[in-house]
Amino acid sequence: MTETVLLVGGGGREHAIARSLADSDAQLYACAGNKNPGIAQVAAGFETLETTNPTAVVDYARQVDATLAVVGPEAPLAAGVADALDEAGVYAFGPQEAEARIETDKAFQRRFMQENDIPGCPDFETFDDMEAACEYVDEYDGDLAIKPAGLTGGKGVRVMGDQIDTEEAKAYIRNSDYDRIVLEERLVGEEFTVQAFVANGDVRVTPAVQDHKRAYEGDEGPNTGGMGSYSDASLELPFMIEEEYMEAVDVIQAVVDALDGYKGVLYGQFMLTAEGIKVVEFNARFGDPEAMNTLPALNTDFLDVLTAARDGEELPQLNFQRQATVCKYAVPDGYPTDPESGALVKVDEDSVAAVSEEYDGEALLFYASVDERDDGIYTTTSRSFAVVGVADSITDAEEIAEDALSLAGDEGLRMRHDIGKADLVQQRIDHMAELRGE
Ligand code: AMP
Ligand code: GLY
Repeated sequence: MTETVLLVGGGGREHAIARSLADSDAQLYACAGNKNPGIAQVAAGFETLETTNPTAVVDYARQVDATLAVVGPEAPLAAGVADALDEAGVYAFGPQEAEARIETDKAFQRRFMQENDIPGCPDFETFDDMEAACEYVDEYDGDLAIKPAGLTGGKGVRVMGDQIDTEEAKAYIRNSDYDRIVLEERLVGEEFTVQAFVANGDVRVTPAVQDHKRAYEGDEGPNTGGMGSYSDASLELPFMIEEEYMEAVDVIQAVVDALDGYKGVLYGQFMLTAEGIKVVEFNARFGDPEAMNTLPALNTDFLDVLTAARDGEELPQLNFQRQATVCKYAVPDGYPTDPESGALVKVDEDSVAAVSEEYDGEALLFYASVDERDDGIYTTTSRSFAVVGVADSITDAEEIAEDALSLAGDEGLRMRHDIGKADLVQQRIDHMAELRGE
């Protein structure tokens, strides 16, 4: 039987999912709030709808006779879209609302770690009373990370001693309209992501990735959804050792064991500190951009993972190309604070594809939060498209990504050229060596 897969979401992450399913023996349909031209190209059908409306998603799933669904972003998960699909008899690869709380409620997430003795939990306190939170900031000996408990698209966290001082911290807390915040010890080190496919109690991990949250080169400026990311030809990254990667895997395993019946992708964001690894957060889905590093390097058929998950079978062991990847996002001018939406984006897909011919590697293009209309492709308020270089080393993959980026067309768009460059990777290595006192 040919499977019919409904993909929910229209960002770069979902284009990467669509690309990996396009080679499988599946009919692909997709729905999103924006018409992503890359997904529309490989899908048999594309419906523009509100993906946080479970009824709308289920209606479309029924209309196309979906036998499986993959929910990409967190907002539909938080809105109960996986629950509604499951209930309608369409297995959703993505956790139900209650399990997605591991991402959607940071206060729940920290308490969950504490109650279940999950290793790597930083010291934290949660507050509903913002004045009490300000008092805690005054009394705390050291820097804190201030985290709204709910979803903020990665843009709500402020770190003292890095982005803000004590007075700014208190002003941020007082002036926000957050109902609940988490204050936790500031972690110092290098961040990395490990994502795992999870279902039927099985955990299948993927190589570590490092994202770049800050908007500008040299890690300056406000936090974004992620400006780009890289992975190495091995499971770990150049600034860490395999044992540290395995520690992260143990944390993910412990979370899955404690969360009864989790299904979908579990994403762990870690800080490698001088004292070992600590958990920055968990997400209930693939990372964006990280999915664009992970899925192109996956040799195992993603559809086999999905059907095994649905059928209650053991998940297949994953096989990865031993290749490094570098992903760079092109974002609208002004992103993330004051993004220019509604601007025409011209992307030269053929020139990007031609880059692959020139190198011993591959250049890939992923459309993100752009909207295809009759007369062209337009920016929204979020990231526009990404290019990914795949090659034997991070340096070679970076060169491919840069070439692809310049040929794709970057008019009116901004990017971080430093991501994956030897200099910046070396800075990460030196930073860890310094923290370790080497
Ligand atoms: P989150 O939304 O939890 O991923 O936080 C966004 C970003 O804020 C992370 O990627 C980190 O760069 C930073 N961050 C979050 N928590 C901490 C912490 N406890 N210490 C230092 N930085 C943090
Ligand atoms: N890259 C960070 C995220 O997907 O949340």
